[in-house]
Amino acid sequence: MRPALLRIRPCFTYDEWVKILSIVGARPQFVKLAPVGRALRSSEHQHVVVHTGQHYDDTMSRNLFRSLDIPDADVNLDIGSGSHGHQTGRMLGAIEDVLQEQRPDVVLVYGDTNSTLAGTLAATKLLVPVAHVEAGLRSFDRSMPEEQNRVASDHLSDLLLAPTATAVRHLGTEGLGERTHLVGDVMADVCLDVASQVSGLPTLPDGVDAERYVVATIHRPSNTDDAQRLEGVVDYLERVPADVVLAAHPRLVARAREQGVRLERDGVFVCEPFDYRQLVAAVHGSVAVVTDSGGLQKEAYLLGRPCTTLRAETEWVETLEGGWNELDHGLERADSVLRGPLTTARPDHFGDGRAAQRIVDTVSRELG
Ligand code: UD1
Repeated sequence: MRPALLRIRPCFTYDEWVKILSIVGARPQFVKLAPVGRALRSSEHQHVVVHTGQHYDDTMSRNLFRSLDIPDADVNLDIGSGSHGHQTGRMLGAIEDVLQEQRPDVVLVYGDTNSTLAGTLAATKLLVPVAHVEAGLRSFDRSMPEEQNRVASDHLSDLLLAPTATAVRHLGTEGLGERTHLVGDVMADVCLDVASQVSGLPTLPDGVDAERYVVATIHRPSNTDDAQRLEGVVDYLERVPADVVLAAHPRLVARAREQGVRLERDGVFVCEPFDYRQLVAAVHGSVAVVTDSGGLQKEAYLLGRPCTTLRAETEWVETLEGGWNELDHGLERADSVLRGPLTTARPDHFGDGRAAQRIVDTVSRELG
């Protein structure tokens, strides 16, 4: 393990304020930022938020900030889309400039996107301590860009803020146990909080049977980037014996158009991505979920809706217990999407909804 003394340490005791700089850029990171930002606003610390601009459409960025009451980012780098190397490389240089100007005491990175990796790398090279929120997730599939980003970010970060006991175990196996703290899952903080406020019906596309519908999202390259696979995925959604509301990520729309795959099918209603409150309301009103998103697997679990995940593995293995989540990479069981209502137990694997406060306390104590 790298000795902690090799890092430049700010000169303060942990009851003094520190300058914490969060780096976000993609939709799920805005969700994670919401409770952490709120906890930091009620702490003594200064918080600066940098948005890389990895996601830039209103449905992918601004609407999330609005629906979760997140103040605008202090800096937006407007990086935009690109191949992984080009996108990450552009972020790296731009984040380095911001860090040199802002001189934070600690950098917080979130999740597993290219923005996470670029933020971790830029801070590490300037010897600024890094804390990784949602550390320790593993799919054990190194062909996934997210897995590459997670492994690299975890091994470079000074403080690993793990959401689950499984994540703690993975980090221990990789020799990172001493830097690891189990804090709970910030996405559970947000989901439980928003669910307690959501009332009324979700906004659904015209014609959907509001009494019996399935929420679907598909965006992983492994499902969208090959025409035959994408055709198979959309056929699968058409075979689900209920209306399917497909909240279409721009990547899905772009790849479908390029490859000549038609998304609108009999019983498949395509709409724009939901903002967070609409998403929680839509899942709450649904009978089931079909997805390849990590966040949505957990949201379905927390809201008590059966989920089918169109992947060969999941990082959130806890959701598989009791049949709440099932993997169907082979696209074979469209009928069992509607296997609810389930009555099996849903243990509290993702924490008690207070992960963000624990993150602020742990960062103050450990990196102060
Ligand atoms: C990224 C993350 C993924 C996360 C997902 C959530 C990486 C490697 N992947 O995937 O882990 O689950 O975000 O959404 O960081 N596009 C737009 N408008 C936008 C953003 C994207 O049209 O605002 C389109 C562009 O065609 C772009 C494509 O979506 O090329 C992919 O965007 P990108 O950010 O590269 O990856 P995601 O698939 O969104």
